[in-house]
Amino acid sequence: MKRDPALITLSREHLPALILAYRLRHGRSSNPAHPWPTDPVAQRSQALVFIHGDLARHFAAEEEVLFPLKGQLSDPGPSDRVWAEHQQFWQQVHQIEDALPEALPPLLKALGELLDAHVRFEERVWFEQLQRELPPEQLDSVMAKLEQHLPPGSCSSL
Ligand SMILES: [Fe+2]
Ligand SMILES: [Fe+2]
Repeated sequence: MKRDPALITLSREHLPALILAYRLRHGRSSNPAHPWPTDPVAQRSQALVFIHGDLARHFAAEEEVLFPLKGQLSDPGPSDRVWAEHQQFWQQVHQIEDALPEALPPLLKALGELLDAHVRFEERVWFEQLQRELPPEQLDSVMAKLEQHLPPGSCSSL
């Protein structure tokens, strides 16, 4: 289904999130123009800049604007899964922040796997459900609220 205009900004922000997920999973960049460090400690620092900036704002926008709509949906399951994955994501981020350098590679890889699966689930299931089931006026109000949360050009720091 074509993405509803109300969700387009969040959908666009999934692209840099998937790029980060790729780098975390593979330990390298897919784009030679934007290399990814080979040192896990440098990888952690670079990932955390994006995670605590654009990605944190993205997660917060989903939580504050989209989660409260759960009760209007036929099945709360997708919203519940997204919420649980956000909690799990931050737990893994805190582990990574505290980890010794030699413990980092598998932790960074696992975070990339979680982020990749999470974003793909939102795109394939959650956003599809939201735009299929919410009435148009509700989607309009979602768009207005998201505009307050997400400044234009957000998620550009990766
Ligand atoms: Fe999310
Ligand atoms: Fe998302």
